[in-house]
Amino acid sequence: MTKPECQSHTGASTHAEHGKRVADMFGRIAGWYDFLNHALSLGQDIYWRYRLAKAARPAPDGIVLDLAAGTMDVSVELLRQYPGCKVAALDFALPMLENGKVKKLKKGRESRIFPVQADGRALPLPDESMSAATIAFGIRNILPREDAYAEFYRVLKPGARLCILEFGTGSKRVWKGLYNFYLDKLLPFIGDRISGDPFAYRYLAETIKSFPDERALGNELLSAGFERVYNVPLMSGIVYLHVAEKPVQTVKASAPEGALIPKTTVPKKKAAPKKAAEKAKKNPIKKKPKGAKSVQTK
Ligand SMILES: C[S@@+](CC[C@H](N)C(=O)[O-])C[C@H]1O[C@@H](n2cnc3c(N)ncnc32)[C@H](O)[C@@H]1O
Repeated sequence: MTKPECQSHTGASTHAEHGKRVADMFGRIAGWYDFLNHALSLGQDIYWRYRLAKAARPAPDGIVLDLAAGTMDVSVELLRQYPGCKVAALDFALPMLENGKVKKLKKGRESRIFPVQADGRALPLPDESMSAATIAFGIRNILPREDAYAEFYRVLKPGARLCILEFGTGSKRVWKGLYNFYLDKLLPFIGDRISGDPFAYRYLAETIKSFPDERALGNELLSAGFERVYNVPLMSGIVYLHVAEKPVQTVKASAPEGALIPKTTVPKKKAAPKKAAEKAKKNPIKKKPKGAKSVQTK
C-alpha cells in the first residue's frame, strides 16, 4: 500500500487536496469567523494580534506580507501600528478576504491594504521585497510547512522579521486540564452549533492537539535558514508568538568554487562585550522581550 503524501486532518492524502479542503472549509465559515474568533477566545485574540504586529517592526515605509490574512484583522492592526506601510494581505480562501474587505477596508485603509488570493506555498511576490511578514493562526493549516517557510525566506529582505502567531501544542495540560477539556469537548460543540459546520471546529481542535510544541517549531525555523529565533508564550502557552529573522548576510550561490559555505549565514565578527552592550541599547530589535525564550540550535 502506498503511504499518503501528507498527514492531513481533513482526510486528504495529498498536499494539493489538503489545500483545497482547507480553502473550502474557511470559505464556508467566513461569515461567522470574526464573531467566533472573539467569542471563543474571550476577546484575547485582539491582544494577541496586537503583539504579533508589534513584533514585526517593518521599515516605516515598507511592505508587510500578512499571509493567511483571512478577514484581515492582522493587516488592519499592522496598518494601525505602522501607518506609513503597505500590507499585502494574502489568503487562498476568497470568501474570507471578501468578507474582510467589505467590513474593514474603509477609511482610507483600502489604499494601503491589498487583498490577494494566493497560496502561501507559492507566493506571487518578488524575492527580497517584504519588509516584514506575519502569519496568524495560519501556519498550522499549511502542509508542508517547509514550503511556506521557504517562501517567507525568499520574499523577505535580509534582516527582516517573520512573526508567527499560533496555538501551542494542545497535547500539554494547561490550567489543570481545563483548557484540554475546552479543546476536546466545548470547542467542537460550540463551533458546530454556531457556525453550522460540524467539521470546521473539530478540525481546529484536532490540528491544535497534534501541532508541534514551541521548541520544535523554532527548530523548523532554524532549519529553514532563519536566525535569532525566539518565542513568547501568551495566555499560559495556549498561544505562542514566534519571531525569526532572515540573516542580514546570506551566502550567494555564486561563491567561488571550492569555498567553504556555511549553511545560510556568514558569521558576523563578535563585538567586544562593552561595544555589544552599547549596540544592543541602540538597536532594540536584537533584544528579546521579557518572558521570551530563545530556541536552541539542534
Ligand atoms: C484561522 S484563519 C486565520 C486568519 C487571520 N490570520 C486571523 O488571524 O484571523 C487561517 C487562514 O489561513 C488560510 N490558509 C490556510 N492555508 C493557506 C495557504 N496554503 N495559503 C494561503 N492561505 C491559507 C485560510 O484560508 C484561512 O483564511
